[in-house]
Amino acid sequence: MKFDFSKAYDLKELEKYYNKGEENLKKVLNKDSEGSDFLGWVELPKAYPEEELKKIKHAAEEIRKKSDYLVVIGIGGSYLGTKAVENSLKDYFEDDEEFKLIYAGNHLSSTYLNELVKFLKDKEYCINVISKSGTTTEPAIAFRILKRELEEKYGKDAKNRIYVTTDREKGALKKLSIQEGYETFVVPDDIGGRFSVISPVGLLPLAAKGVDIDKLLEGFRKGQELFTIVDAKENKAIQYALIRHLLYGQGKDIEILVNYEPSLTYISAWWKQLFGESEGKDGKAIFPASVDFTTDLHSMGQLIQEGKRNIFETVIEVKNPKEDIEIPFDEQNLDGLNYIAGKTLDYVNKKATEGTRTAHVKGEVPNISIVIDKIDEENLAMLLYFFEISVSISGYLLEVNPFNQPGVEEYKKQMFKLLGKPGVN
Ligand code: PA5
Repeated sequence: MKFDFSKAYDLKELEKYYNKGEENLKKVLNKDSEGSDFLGWVELPKAYPEEELKKIKHAAEEIRKKSDYLVVIGIGGSYLGTKAVENSLKDYFEDDEEFKLIYAGNHLSSTYLNELVKFLKDKEYCINVISKSGTTTEPAIAFRILKRELEEKYGKDAKNRIYVTTDREKGALKKLSIQEGYETFVVPDDIGGRFSVISPVGLLPLAAKGVDIDKLLEGFRKGQELFTIVDAKENKAIQYALIRHLLYGQGKDIEILVNYEPSLTYISAWWKQLFGESEGKDGKAIFPASVDFTTDLHSMGQLIQEGKRNIFETVIEVKNPKEDIEIPFDEQNLDGLNYIAGKTLDYVNKKATEGTRTAHVKGEVPNISIVIDKIDEENLAMLLYFFEISVSISGYLLEVNPFNQPGVEEYKKQMFKLLGKPGVN
């Protein structure tokens, strides 16, 4: 991974804050500050239990043998990491995709669930229901409905098609799993939802999809090596956290995550949860937004270039695209494109990236550049780990607890009141 922070902040000036960044990384590594009992993910890459990995791979194989679809039921951190990695890796057009993940329980759309029920009627499928608490309403409803369908279709064999990822001991899902004999996987106590992609939460469905989870873990391990160094000069995660914080101090309270490769859209969705839920509390936050370029240059470009000057952008760039294509010469040249004939589309995409950066910096939008070599398991995992460490440092810089999400409960309370849930008033 390569980083360029020079168009976001004066790098000499940044050095003055290195100490502060290092102090806050130490809080993460020493686990001695607020929220420290949710830091199990930090050292997990290098210590991932071999036994669990074997169990995940075995279950994934079984799922693929038994079915063509795995319905991943979960919301927030219980599905976004999986979807982000899956979407980034898969081909845009796959006529003969041999095994598919389908997501459910991440909203309350009755149309979606009805259509899914109908779609699954004549399909071979398994379910992986993922909920750390085991009580989240959206996945609980989806699971109740899809479990009934599965039982109607497969009878007694249905229980061999249900895989549960939940708390080690607590919660309704755990209880049900023991009662029904479902195969279960544990979301470790010390790993919160949005940091849980490196656990059975992400690894089981991704392995079922055919993602190489050994390479994914290798990427997480490299991330651990690179981004836990307590030397801000060497550690780009510290620098990124510091720059965000300093820009926030200058009134830049919206950060836009940008990509120039649409398969990365769900990396942004995952990132928005990670940063939004970790930092947005106590009346503070950098609002995490996202755009796909160049698509959104034709919808949001105007605002970014000339709207309120409270925005900075972080651009994920891919050095080597999976595929490239040459722009052909045309005798007539009616579209006037012959000046780039013979160049590749990725060459044009890279020039668009460069040109947009120049335009935005000129328009007072500080620009942070993160370049990954290519989109593969290793690079994606490194990127995810980079953001996880950064948000931890950044949350501590903001003096909030980056590992809780008390505000999420309020909508639930209001909804439960309206639904007449016993015990809620
Ligand atoms: O980051 C978090 O903790 C949350 O976003 C959760 O992942 C989300 O609310 C789902 O929770 P659960 O896995 O308990 O169903």
